[in-house]
Amino acid sequence: MTTFADISTDESAATAPAVAYPTPLLRIEAVTKTFGGFVAVDGLSLDIQAGEFFALLGPSGCGKTTLLRMLAGFETPDSGRILLDGTDIAAVLPHQRPVNMMFQSYALFPHLNVRDNISFGLKNAGLTRLGIDSRVAEMLDLVKLNDLQTRRPHQLSGGQKQRVALARALARRPQLLLLDEPLAALDKKLREETQTELIALQRRLGTTFVIVTHDQDEAMKMADRIGVMSHGRLEQVATPRQLYEAPETRWVAGFVGDVNLIEGEVTLQDGYRLTVATAGAGTLIAAEPRQPLAGSAICLAIRPEKIRLARRGPAVERGHTGAMNSVEGTVSEVGYLGGLSVYRIKLDHGGTLRAALANTARLDVDAYSVGQHVVAWFAPDDCVVLPR
Ligand SMILES: Nc1ncnc2c1ncn2[C@@H]1O[C@H](COP(=O)(O)OP(=O)(O)O)[C@@H](O)[C@H]1O
Ligand SMILES: [Mg+2]
Repeated sequence: MTTFADISTDESAATAPAVAYPTPLLRIEAVTKTFGGFVAVDGLSLDIQAGEFFALLGPSGCGKTTLLRMLAGFETPDSGRILLDGTDIAAVLPHQRPVNMMFQSYALFPHLNVRDNISFGLKNAGLTRLGIDSRVAEMLDLVKLNDLQTRRPHQLSGGQKQRVALARALARRPQLLLLDEPLAALDKKLREETQTELIALQRRLGTTFVIVTHDQDEAMKMADRIGVMSHGRLEQVATPRQLYEAPETRWVAGFVGDVNLIEGEVTLQDGYRLTVATAGAGTLIAAEPRQPLAGSAICLAIRPEKIRLARRGPAVERGHTGAMNSVEGTVSEVGYLGGLSVYRIKLDHGGTLRAALANTARLDVDAYSVGQHVVAWFAPDDCVVLPR
């Protein structure tokens, strides 16, 4: 079993790029951008390594597009610096940066066919006619649009337009490709297929991708690392697994995935083992290797799938003196989602818990029903301790 402590140590190497890569491809240093007094990007710093697939994840209006536009050169930061390969690019015009941006709206030229849309930016990139022809052929191959090269945008489906925009953005072989919600206009199935294709494409080309999305599943599936943004700031930058299993703030825990948040006070700390008095769920034990916390007000975050249910609780070590936390309650709601069922448990102590259980058998022999009294149990390792 992987424990919380294993996760922290295993992946810490992935978030300590200073050791592995001395110069990041992109360095954003304390960048701020305001619009008439409104702070859209607020002193944001971030390093992105060459070859990384990085996702900026955050709710609408948190400043994702503004940040990308500054990287592309369409907006100028009020303060801070943007370095590409160690060089400040403030004075470099957008079309001279080795950076290309694929817009959320695709921004295709309606009067140009697929081929001319793709070759548009190549004409003033100093390529010969032959050079342009071979680059366009390569791009058409890459996005599988060979058969449609003479069509105009209005004769294409949403997925096909997305590919043209992608081919156009990649045609000049940028070092850094910025993609602003590139899949938002596609339906669910096509979006999932395109995610897989984008991952494969990025691996094949080795180009650094920075993708903006408000869809956490998309960010988790595609990215090597994710930066979670809120109100113009980065809340946490981490691998998808770290973000989900070891969120650093309550906000991140709640934004990325479903979570139970239980407030409490630390009453005892014995090494990694914290005893936490909670109002809604009684006394719980958490394993917490990070901060000394005795006496402090904290919040425990427990993912619903980490909670198990039983009619009578684990056979040994019931209660909080043993290795497991166990709390009793009554099922108040059952959500059947096919692969999973989500149970809401009204605890005898007064709080509520959500538990997600895989439906591993066709017959509902293991299911619980509303009104049933159950024991919910979970390991101390599965409780993330967060500041309140
Ligand atoms: N040109 C602009 N003028 C004024 N306000 C802007 C401008 N561009 C963006 N904003 C504001 O800045 C905030 C961040 O916008 P944006 O970067 O587009 O967010 P996101 O892409 O995360 O949805 C929003 O509140 C938006 O209204
Ligand atoms: Mg946006």
